[in-house]
Amino acid sequence: MSSLSNKRIILGVTGGIAAYKSAEVVRRLQDQGAEVRVVMTPAAGEFIRPLTMQALSGNPVHIELLDSEAEAGMGHIELARWADLLLIAPASADFIANMVHGRADSLLSAIHLATPAMVVIAPAMNQAMWAHPASLANIATLQERGVCIIGPDAGIQACGDVGPGRMQRPDDIVERAISLFENGLLAGKKVVITAGPTREALDPVRYISNHSSGKMGYALAQAATEAGAKVTLISGPVSLAPPERCQLTAVTSADEMLSASLEAATDADVFIAAAAVADYRASTVAEQKIKKQGEQMTINLEKNPDIVATVSAANPNLFVLGFAAETQDIESYARDKLASKNLNAIIANDVSRGDVGFNADDNEVSWIDADSSKVFSKRSKAQLARDILEHMVNHLKL
Ligand code: C5P
Repeated sequence: MSSLSNKRIILGVTGGIAAYKSAEVVRRLQDQGAEVRVVMTPAAGEFIRPLTMQALSGNPVHIELLDSEAEAGMGHIELARWADLLLIAPASADFIANMVHGRADSLLSAIHLATPAMVVIAPAMNQAMWAHPASLANIATLQERGVCIIGPDAGIQACGDVGPGRMQRPDDIVERAISLFENGLLAGKKVVITAGPTREALDPVRYISNHSSGKMGYALAQAATEAGAKVTLISGPVSLAPPERCQLTAVTSADEMLSASLEAATDADVFIAAAAVADYRASTVAEQKIKKQGEQMTINLEKNPDIVATVSAANPNLFVLGFAAETQDIESYARDKLASKNLNAIIANDVSRGDVGFNADDNEVSWIDADSSKVFSKRSKAQLARDILEHMVNHLKL
């Protein structure tokens, strides 16, 4: 797998002669495994045909903010949430000023305001325009806000001038985009994550389980790996490919998940319990397939061990993050679990909604610890995983 695999990137193209190079940027991003959607400002269409970008990206190109057809397909807020990275290349002087002022007069500028994703710009303009104090002040403001600036490169310009202002080479832009996902926040740490459902056998062919897809746990494993951690992912049966570079321990039942977790947690720094563990299992597992009997049947169930509580009790120095999927009184149930399971923090999510939580690609959650809470508005699980880990590291000074 390549370094941007599974990454969703919006390539924003603004009006400038360097816009022709954005076709190459699309290609290089795709070579690295990224899914690319192109958003152009109306002025960019004067320099490169939207059709070219559509053919290269394999997706419709988005241009107009007030386009009811496009909004019905993937609206600007949805696009903003979809992205893991907003890369604007080339970013013209005018568009940079537009970003500084938080304008929303084009689709691309509205996405810039709405996205929770990382924002990267590759400025391109005439050397005198770049050197103007207004441009330099605008760049400094964006940098302060956390926008990553790539380039510009120096050399001969389209207008014949020589100096800084050329858009950075597509290969360099893509290399930088890759490095942004590798932020080193958890360098040297070991993180153990449980994910997916457990399956509790009734007999050789039947089991009790739940609808957990494992997406949140796998997204956390991916984000922790990219943040430099050594990750052990202990997963129940799911249909997801394990993230690159993390050690996968595949388990079936809660008992197996508990043993694997206790073993992996002994030398870990962080334990994240994202699995949807079955609360109960059959008291006895039939050796042969249970035959049909009368109109009703009764199965005796007994409680499964609480994995996260057991791991936390056995490892007092471990940082333990749990999840609480609730349909009502979310915060108060989550706080109860924080205390009863001896967690350092808990992520509460509302699973009564169809658009977030279980099985969905997006999630909206709250982080709750003993003395604070923080809401993470709706975003992709991949982005949410990165944001949760960043909050964990910064907030708790791991
Ligand atoms: O009690 P409840 O299932 O709502 O708690 C959710 C949290 O506890 C999740 O972090 C889940 O992974 C963890 N859990 C566990 N073992 C169980 C039940 C839940 O680790 N048997």
